[in-house]
Amino acid sequence: MPIIYQQISELRAALQPYRGQRNDKPDSAQRIALVPTMGNLHEGHLELVSIAKQHADIVVVSIFVNPTQFGEGEDFESYPRTLDEDVAKLATVGTDYVFAPSIAEMYPVMPPPTSVLAGGITTQLCGQSRPGHFDGVGIVVSKLFNIVQPGVTVFGQKDYQQLAIIKQLVRDLSYPIEIVGAPIVRAADGLALSSRNQYLSAAERETAPVLHAELQRLAQQLMSNKLSMPEFEALLAETSQRISNAGFNIDYLEVKTDALKSVINDAEVFNVENENLIILVAAWLGRARLLDNQVVTVH
Ligand code: PAF
Repeated sequence: MPIIYQQISELRAALQPYRGQRNDKPDSAQRIALVPTMGNLHEGHLELVSIAKQHADIVVVSIFVNPTQFGEGEDFESYPRTLDEDVAKLATVGTDYVFAPSIAEMYPVMPPPTSVLAGGITTQLCGQSRPGHFDGVGIVVSKLFNIVQPGVTVFGQKDYQQLAIIKQLVRDLSYPIEIVGAPIVRAADGLALSSRNQYLSAAERETAPVLHAELQRLAQQLMSNKLSMPEFEALLAETSQRISNAGFNIDYLEVKTDALKSVINDAEVFNVENENLIILVAAWLGRARLLDNQVVTVH
């Protein structure tokens, strides 16, 4: 079973021996991995831990439903908190430590007067419909990096924008941390695993895989055709319509370069040669806001 800590000082003390700073044992450093989560773990999270184990000797999983990344009227209160089940699942994949702090431990002053802002990348896509969300992610992830001081951290590619922001954060704040992006884990019918999938009714759960199927269909068309801008826009509109017709309420459906830049170039011609594209979608199905994405390699 992993050892659970709720206090920052206790976790730091537990990790200290792995840092290899003892004068009598200069070669004793072991690599620590951090997998940040908000708990209510599913197979996708366990896959992050398995990947972390391939990159490190010691794996720390944080479980913290971070209030600063939830907006007014969002699901902070109702977000499922399942610590005992989570720890049991983490034991099956060889997690060494779980860090499960209280809000007061993480934020002695709430809301925290200090911010970690990542600029323009945070105001598009999910950041546009969830203002302030990535500011909350920025501060909590920075704190977790400072507390755990990992050599490597693993984030899921399902939250593609979050992963891009973390990469920028690590670069700009000079964290000596390797970032590993983990492929999306899907149910057999294609639905990307997410803690929020449990908000779906049985009927909605049957509909939900449509999102992935439509992204694949769009990716296929982008891969096989060199499109003019009007053709591209018509294809996007058609895909949006098909997703809406299935019962989704689309928040956004966008195609970006893999650096999350716009694909519209000066000549207004859609020419994606030698660029990887990413299709990103967020859509509501009943109470669940589902995220998905699909990389398109166009060569
Ligand atoms: O992806 C998540 O679960 C959260 O945004 C994270 C990275 C754990 C920060 O609270």
